[in-house]
Order: sequence, then structure tokens, then C-alpha cells
Amino acid sequence: PEAITVQELANRMAEKGADLVKALFKMGVMVTVNQTIDQDTAELLVEEFGHNITLVSESDVDIDHSADVDAEETLQTRPPVVTIMGHVDHGKTSLLDALRGTDVVRGEAGGITQHIGAYQIKTKGGDLITFLDTPGHEAFTEMRMRGANVTDIVILVVAGDDGLMPQTIEAINHTKAAGVPMIVAITKADKPEYKSQKIRERLLEHEIVVEQMSGDVQDVEVSAKTGAGLDELIEKILLQAELLELRANPDRSAEATVVEAKLDKGKGPLATVLINRGTLKVGDIFVVGTQSGRVRAMHDDKGRQIKSAPPSLPVEVLGLGGVPMSGDTLTVVENEARAREVASYRQEQATAKRTTAAPASLENMFSALK
Ligand code: GTP
Ligand code: MG
Repeated sequence: PEAITVQELANRMAEKGADLVKALFKMGVMVTVNQTIDQDTAELLVEEFGHNITLVSESDVDIDHSADVDAEETLQTRPPVVTIMGHVDHGKTSLLDALRGTDVVRGEAGGITQHIGAYQIKTKGGDLITFLDTPGHEAFTEMRMRGANVTDIVILVVAGDDGLMPQTIEAINHTKAAGVPMIVAITKADKPEYKSQKIRERLLEHEIVVEQMSGDVQDVEVSAKTGAGLDELIEKILLQAELLELRANPDRSAEATVVEAKLDKGKGPLATVLINRGTLKVGDIFVVGTQSGRVRAMHDDKGRQIKSAPPSLPVEVLGLGGVPMSGDTLTVVENEARAREVASYRQEQATAKRTTAAPASLENMFSALK
């Protein structure tokens, strides 16, 4: 079977590598621009791009996201989505605990994060910031990928008593591939072995030039233990968010991205979603991937029931027909018949794609594309 790197495919399609990585991520494939994908995946991806660009009539059956861009005057500022990444045990969850005033770390098995945690905090100044916590253990590359692809900003956590480690570098690469800005937090500043300057120098080898080295990547020294630097970190996040001019239309039917999904013994299929635009309400009928459903209840990160969820809020949704895939888009539709129609159309498409013979070669496919 033929394989091609994402970057090479992007070049041939005259698309940006980062856009392909994002599209692949939506298809449930987690790769960086430098990794290879197989022919079937490449074919799906090409179709995916072709679909968005040309097949407007498809919107009769499926939901064409590209077609409905929100009008300028409907857009309102939304909170930034910030993903925390870094090597295992470097202090990501502790940093978030310090920011939130919680103690998640203590409840984790072996103190190791094994899923994406999604939270929202309100700063002293009243600003909202959404945080995604990712695992640092090497086994969880896909989750880090996913985190980098749904976020506006990445916080790269590096333990100042340790240094740049394999998953630090992996996180740098995911961030670059996703094309999102980074803030470097050099943590554990309270430790005697803390050497932040060494870390700034090592970052240069990965083309990360922080402010203290006269570059434009913001960096901050923090300690989850003493709370040092936390206010400065918040300030830097808000500054970066302002530069990004993050906006969304809250007054429309909701669109959200599945961050995580699972089957709960008592509650049935559960999905943690991040609202991209619109407001998700209890009772809303939706399609998510190949599943349909109706919002039966929603919970925020503290387990409180909420009735409606605005842009950038992470919520746990109950009322799904089945377990969707991480990265799937949840789209609210007008009625149940429509939801079932779209879901079953997508199921058919998925089945057809699995059974259809692949074209003779990638070359053919790309020439057919032109
Ligand atoms: P994974 O999610 O498994 O990748 O780990 P993590 O990056 O979330 O690290 P975690 O927050 O679980 O912290 C790892 C260890 O470092 C724990 O024992 C923390 O108590 C300790 N730690 C984290 N931050 C600090 C800090 O600022 N100072 C000191 N002294 N210890 C810290
Ligand atoms: Mg953790």
C-alpha cells in the first residue's frame, strides 16, 4: 500500500499542512504534518476537501458547515480555549489545580492524567478562560494532538528542575502543526534545582524564541506550590487572546466539538463537548458524527446542571443515541427526522467508504483532482 506524508499531500493539493492536519483530526486521524497516512485516508481527505469546496447540493442530505458563515454583526467576543501540554509529571494538572483552586491531581490514579480534562475559570478581573488539560504520558499522543487542534492557545509546561523531554518536544511539534500560538510556563519555580534560563536556551534549538531571549513567544516562571507567577500567566493568556480577536455568534443553533466521549453504565453515552458557536440548550436535537440525539441534560466542569451553554464552554452532554468519536462535530438540527436522516446518511457513507475499492494510485487520484 502507498503512503504519503501529510505535508507532501498538502503540497499536491495546494492546501496548508495545518488545514489537512485539522481535517484529519476531524476524521479521527491524529497525525502531524511530517507523518505518513495511507492511501485510503488520503483519499478520504481529498474527498473531504473536495466536498467542502464543490458539492453544495450535498447540503440537501448532509450539513454543509462551510456554507453558513456567521455575519460580522452577529459575532461577539468569546473566551479563549487554552490547552496545557508538556512532558509527564512536569506539573500540568497541578498548575491547573492552582489556577482553579481544586485538587484534581490527588484523585488521579498514580498521579497520572489519562484523559482530557476540560474546565472554565473566571479570573479576578471577571474574564473567562477555558482550559483543557492533556496527559503527558507518552502513550497519549492522540489526546495531545486533539488538544492542540481544538485550542486557541497552547501553554507549554516545562518543569524548570528537569528540562526539555520527549513529550515536551512532541507538544512543540503538535502546536506548530496546529498553527496556534504558544505561551511557555516554566514551572516548579520553588524548587532549589530550578534553572529556567537553561530551558529558554534549549528551546532555541526548537525555534522557540521566548521574550526573555528577545523573541516573541511569551514565557513566564510559575510555581503551582507557592502560586508564584499565576497572575502573570493569566495576564499573558488574556493578552494573547486579545490579539487573536476570538469571536463567535452566540445567538444561533449550536455547533460543538467532541473532546471526549464514553459509555457510562448508569447515564448511557456521554460526551464532553466544547461549544464552537451558537448556544446549546437542553432539549436541542442534534447530530454528532454518525449519531443523533437530544440534549437531555448538561453539566459543567463542577458537575452542576446547566440549561444552556454559550461559545467556548466545555459541557458534558447526556442524551446521545450512541458514543461519538473524539473530534466529531455536534450540530443542532431542526427536528428528529432531520437528525436521523443526516445520521443514517453518514452511517451509509462511512460503510460505503470502508467497502469501496481504492483508486489505482494516489497519482491518479491527484490528477483527477485537477
Ligand atoms: P501527567 O498529567 O501525568 O503528565 O502529569 P502532570 O504534568 O499533570 O504533573 P502533575 O501536576 O501531576 O505533577 C507531577 C508532580 O510534580 C506532583 O508530585 C506535583 O506535586 C509536583 N509538582 C507540580 N507542580 C509543582 C510545583 O510548582 N512545585 C513543586 N515543588 N512540585 C510540583
Ligand atoms: Mg496531569
